[in-house]
Amino acid sequence: MGRVPMLQCAMDYISNAPALAMALRVAPEVDIIEIGTPLCKAEGLSAIRAMRELLPDKLILADFKSPDVGGLEAQIAFEAGADMMTVIGGAPLATVQQALDMARKMGKEMLMELTGVRDIIARATEWRQMGVERMVYHRGWDEQTHNRQWSEDDKVVIRQLIDMGFKVTVTGGLTNQALPFFADLAVSVVICGRGIREAADPRAAAAEFRATMHRLWGGGGAITTAYEGGRAASANAAQAAAKAVRYGVSEMGLALTIDGRDCPGCDASGRLCMGTATNIQTPAGINATAVVDRMNQLHGRSSAFGRVSDSTFYLDPAQLIGLSTDNVLELLRNAGRALQQLGVQVDMNAGIGVADRILRN
Ligand code: 5RP
Repeated sequence: MGRVPMLQCAMDYISNAPALAMALRVAPEVDIIEIGTPLCKAEGLSAIRAMRELLPDKLILADFKSPDVGGLEAQIAFEAGADMMTVIGGAPLATVQQALDMARKMGKEMLMELTGVRDIIARATEWRQMGVERMVYHRGWDEQTHNRQWSEDDKVVIRQLIDMGFKVTVTGGLTNQALPFFADLAVSVVICGRGIREAADPRAAAAEFRATMHRLWGGGGAITTAYEGGRAASANAAQAAAKAVRYGVSEMGLALTIDGRDCPGCDASGRLCMGTATNIQTPAGINATAVVDRMNQLHGRSSAFGRVSDSTFYLDPAQLIGLSTDNVLELLRNAGRALQQLGVQVDMNAGIGVADRILRN
């Protein structure tokens, strides 16, 4: 069992009114609302502004698929209220860098959109070195009309990207029935547009998606409520819990790095962990699956921790059922205990102490 992916619903309309009406219907069941590329082009920034006003606390992604002027396009998307924006995979590295720098400066996220990219792993290697965290693996609409099906080859590439440390979103004509095909991959986000919007009851269809995702990735655990996130997230308890976990893990003296890179700290402009999940590299010789197995025994199965790759596991206190100080400390303590049981030296007192102080402040 791993972390249950977030559900993103794409508003691929060409005017604001139906997009806003649909977003309002499905919002309680989805984690991220996407302003689809056609809507970005047809209505521009007004679509983002209106969506932000309608859903002040929801995560919003503007699917710009920017090919150039990355810094400015990222800036206007974020200033209009988006939490995330996309850059097209064929864009020059300079564009990627500028969008990424802007996202970091504004505390937001940019994602690489892989539509049309043929040499995905070669490009991903360059993006990884630049510090790109997220990408969207996409079976495009036009490709679908030319009978492009999901295949094992797609999964090989997606798995490689995840093992490289990327958080991967999958999308492209996904239906509830298609989800099991991806269930052995630790995907981060699943996007569904038409499969939800065109259902007789879109909210029920979104709820069904979430239930299927919890069954496939969450081991049948309780279905948590959709992430409220967005602007409120920075101020809410989940962010404080995430910070406590990050400081706690590093105070445990584990000499951990995030995604294989030295962590510059939660308050640094180039911080590596976004959202509430922290990716933790296991010490040499320790497989992340072994850590997660121990945590399953100590903590009970939960989406609040899981394997990312052989050498990385995550802790995400926002996925705890009941975000109390005691629950966050227990999650951290059980991560420490799991590592101790595997022979790793852990300064539990220092880790729990600093986390406790952050949570009580
Ligand atoms: C098209 C997109 C869509 O938003 C994405 O493919 C999801 O839509 P659907 O689930 O309807 O395929 O980015 O370029």
